[in-house]
Amino acid sequence: MERIVVEGGHPLRGEVKVEGAKNAILPAMAAALLAKEPTVLEGAPPLKDVEAMAEILGWLGVEVKRDGPQTWVIDPALLSRLDLPEELSRKLRSSLFLLGPLLARFGQVEMGYPGGCSIGARPIDFHLKGLRQMGVEVLEETPIVKLRAAELRGADIYLAYPSVGATENLMMAATLARGTTTIRNAAKEPEVVDLARLLSAMGARIRGAGSDVVVVEGVQELHGVRHRIIPDRIEAGTFLLALAATGGEGAVTGVNPGHLYAVLDALHQMGCQARFTRDTIRLRAPGRVKPVDIRTQPYPGFPTDLQNPALAVLLKADGTSIITESVFESRFRVVEELRRMGAQVQVDGRLAVVRGVPRLKGARLMAQELRGAAALLIAALSAEGVSTLEGVQHLDRGYSRLEEKLSSLGAVVERRVES
Ligand code: UD1
Repeated sequence: MERIVVEGGHPLRGEVKVEGAKNAILPAMAAALLAKEPTVLEGAPPLKDVEAMAEILGWLGVEVKRDGPQTWVIDPALLSRLDLPEELSRKLRSSLFLLGPLLARFGQVEMGYPGGCSIGARPIDFHLKGLRQMGVEVLEETPIVKLRAAELRGADIYLAYPSVGATENLMMAATLARGTTTIRNAAKEPEVVDLARLLSAMGARIRGAGSDVVVVEGVQELHGVRHRIIPDRIEAGTFLLALAATGGEGAVTGVNPGHLYAVLDALHQMGCQARFTRDTIRLRAPGRVKPVDIRTQPYPGFPTDLQNPALAVLLKADGTSIITESVFESRFRVVEELRRMGAQVQVDGRLAVVRGVPRLKGARLMAQELRGAAALLIAALSAEGVSTLEGVQHLDRGYSRLEEKLSSLGAVVERRVES
């Protein structure tokens, strides 16, 4: 069993570089199946979720190999299966990204209902509704998702919510459909734009990505390309929040500051000073942050994936903060663990009232999902004494060597492997 042991109370100082975005590479790996030739993805983060996606593609007969530490070559030439067993599709929600590409190229797909972090119901109805409109027949929905399409045709699709995954899946399906697909109320996240950039380089005709109307004109075929993944704004935000929680001062490099305005605004309201250049954000945090009210929203609003880490920072704020989670309904599970450290947080549905306390104390903590794990680590860094974090496998899904990177910033933290 692995655990991370943290001795809190040391302000972070120094510089740290972010990896490529988890949420950009996962759909990109699926998009590679839309071509017959290999696609090369550069800037790939070394994450468990990426390895799981590689395993899934491998099972389908796709050749997935590394070409250097941060480059994956995905060759779908020998793709031979269109069905994914439940134990593989449960590994991560992003197995869902296979639906669009496999239907577009082969007209059928079968997989177990996709898994992922336990942060809410996470239905797939928007994906299926859009695909149905494009001519897909849903033969089965649970526990096996079984879809078939004689031909994909363009459609005018309205999303009841700007779902990131549904926008991406439908965009991929539409690239090879007959006619034009319009996705209204589309998600505007940078990862959607990155996927559109990849697909366009492959020969797709897409306009409007990054706005709430995306239009895709279907083409006959796509070809393999070389593509660099955008920086991980959530990893970057996690480091900025860790700096804020510890009263630290440092720089996060390799980032696109333009992707983090909502987070920088919240940090500013907390009393942090931030300066940025093209790919670096420098932050200086006060000894004790000010309270701030945060509401998660689709991009460009405050990202739900940084809600728990931000909550962890506000535990020691000089006053009361109100956090509203508007994206996923069960994203305050981490609060119970944080209370062991002396945190004063009351949760009522999608609202959390965080009463800042002067100090937190180290505790034995158990992570239950990815971003909650990051929040526990941040709280531990700002607490007095030693904390032990279990459930480290959740952290490794979306952060690579987080404890090593935090150590390089002066945190006293190490991973221990115990039998
Ligand atoms: C993606 C991100 C995840 C992030 C989330 C919101 C990836 C791989 N993951 O997840 O890290 O937290 O965006 O920014 O990119 N919904 C439905 N029906 C659907 C699809 C979604 O009701 O068919 C709901 C969800 O339950 C949720 C909301 O829509 O309440 C947003 O979900 P969505 O944007 O789809 O998130 P994901 O793509 O799963």
